Amino acid sequence: MKNKCIIIAPSILSADFANLQTEIEKIENAGADWVHIDVMDGNFVPNITIGVPVVKSIRKVTKMILDVHLMIENPQKYIKDFSLAGSDIITFHYEAAKENVFDVIKLIKSYGKKAGISIKPCTKVQEIKPYLKDLDLILVMTVEPGFGGQKFMSECAEKIKEISSISDTSIIIEVDGGINDKTAKICKDLGANALVAGNYVFSSNDIKMAIDLLR
Ligand code: DX5
Ligand code: ZN
Repeated sequence: MKNKCIIIAPSILSADFANLQTEIEKIENAGADWVHIDVMDGNFVPNITIGVPVVKSIRKVTKMILDVHLMIENPQKYIKDFSLAGSDIITFHYEAAKENVFDVIKLIKSYGKKAGISIKPCTKVQEIKPYLKDLDLILVMTVEPGFGGQKFMSECAEKIKEISSISDTSIIIEVDGGINDKTAKICKDLGANALVAGNYVFSSNDIKMAIDLLR
């Protein structure tokens, strides 16, 4: 049975960057809900990926929700640029925002965007508890952020259940890292309602089937 309530957000980190528009059209036609865009600065994480100009270009070729995942130090410095580039959801890392978490959330909302916070595998749910009421989305990392195609860490997925038990039902619980048809089921059973998948979707010969299987 297809679960329509589960949001599927393919991560374009695993797409062919030389043909990004075609890749985005492919996932859109296959029924994806959001485009997950991984922004990395080579500082917060060891890898460097996409920046503001690419988000701006993607905005021009799709109406899908742009789910921007900032894996960068000093996120507050870049919220304005990523907002104006056309992001719909901006998720920053708790570990990067340090004492500025409330300010970053406020800033994202001041641009009329949805605000998300992400936690690395080593971060406990208790640490973000004070911010839950102000957030639209929590992104649980089930790999160390930085690269696509890594192995799912099931112990991190347990956090989904904990978040779901202490947060409002309107909050989106998204999971990112090592998601395939099997790990998706684990996450959904624990209470996740949005799934990011890079490698699983883009390496598939049948993207529509891959997305349907995730749902
Ligand atoms: C990792 C990124 C993920 C990544 C997921 O740091 O945040 O979004 O693209 O890739 P897969 O689904 O291949 O693990
Ligand atoms: Zn991501």
